[in-house]
Amino acid sequence: MAIYLDHAATTPLRPEALRVLQAHLEIVGNPSSVHQLGQAARRVLEEARESLAATIDCNRSEVIFTSGGTESNNLAIKGLFWQQNSLDSGKRLIVSAYTEHHAVIDAIEWLEREQGAETIWLPVSDAGVVDLVALETLVAERGAEIALITLMWANNETGVLTDIGAVTRIAATSNIAVHSDAVAALGHCEINFSKSGLAAMSLSAHKVGGPVGVGALIVARSAKLTSLTHGGGQERGMRSGTMNSAGAAAFAEAAKQATMGQVALQARLVPLVAKLRAAIEGAATEARFSRGDAPGLLETIHYTFDGCSGDSLLFMLDSAGVAVSTGSACTAGVASASHVLLAMGRSEREATGTLRISLGYTTTEADVEAFIGAFPAAHARAKMAGLAAG
Ligand SMILES: Cc1ncc(COP(=O)(O)O)c(C=O)c1O
Repeated sequence: MAIYLDHAATTPLRPEALRVLQAHLEIVGNPSSVHQLGQAARRVLEEARESLAATIDCNRSEVIFTSGGTESNNLAIKGLFWQQNSLDSGKRLIVSAYTEHHAVIDAIEWLEREQGAETIWLPVSDAGVVDLVALETLVAERGAEIALITLMWANNETGVLTDIGAVTRIAATSNIAVHSDAVAALGHCEINFSKSGLAAMSLSAHKVGGPVGVGALIVARSAKLTSLTHGGGQERGMRSGTMNSAGAAAFAEAAKQATMGQVALQARLVPLVAKLRAAIEGAATEARFSRGDAPGLLETIHYTFDGCSGDSLLFMLDSAGVAVSTGSACTAGVASASHVLLAMGRSEREATGTLRISLGYTTTEADVEAFIGAFPAAHARAKMAGLAAG
């Protein structure tokens, strides 16, 4: 059985979520049908909405269930842009950072190519922290042109956090809608939507131990966005399509478990993370903790190893039965430099020498020991391969 240390890519389905999923998979009714079976399915969906709303502190009517983080990001970014650009005197400017997930970057770049959007990518520090002074200056100078600001709550590669409260306070000075991709943050740090000041926030079930293919966009009651899909008008008209009651219920259960268990999990993981980091830094003198001293997610451990290919390291560790990642699962498999590390000012060479070890609720001391046992030899071999390749 492989040692799984890639929870940021996807975390195993929680037993509680699996039980809820199984209990509801055989639901017969369509939640939009008026007969009793339909209403039973509707009840499951609405209870899931209520539960998720309680977990992240929002109003139940603000929960729009989707197929996952990618859809939620697309709906938020295109939907807010279209609304602002068409109704609100043609605002065309989108503000973001190039350290975002591709589901954000590519949606923005599509709007630039096809829909006349203009984007300003904010600078980030070498630890990956978005420059909020630059944001403040930009909002003061061009606030009236900005359709939306989209900045992720926590970075999925480095784990670095954004001060979302500060972002929304700056945006409020020009009444600008802010969206945040909180897919990597949920279950790993405190998420409180009603206090955040956000117009919209993306979530994904499989990152918290729910099923793949389920997610939510939380849309503030005050926010307006144009839908991507047109049809039955479900989910407040923002996401047409028959709702996935069983998936939503399992997602809500997983989010509840992940959030309730977060403090205890982190208390358990603190010594394991310290041990793991000490072992990496002891075996690889060139190892550089990517987010430095910036605030970040405990469970996401990301290093660059100059002169050592992240892909080789991953391969060597995988051969030793330890599953980790070079970074985002969506770009892994393609031997290219991490766009996140490049945005943080790293060279092409450094940005290909990355490794992300991400822990989660199933991680045990034995898992960490297995990694520590396998790492020195894997690193030495990957380093040799890197030297041979020049
Ligand atoms: C930060 C972030 N946003 C969005 C996504 C996409 O979510 P999903 O896989 O649910 O489409 C991911 C998944 O890797 C992610 O890490």
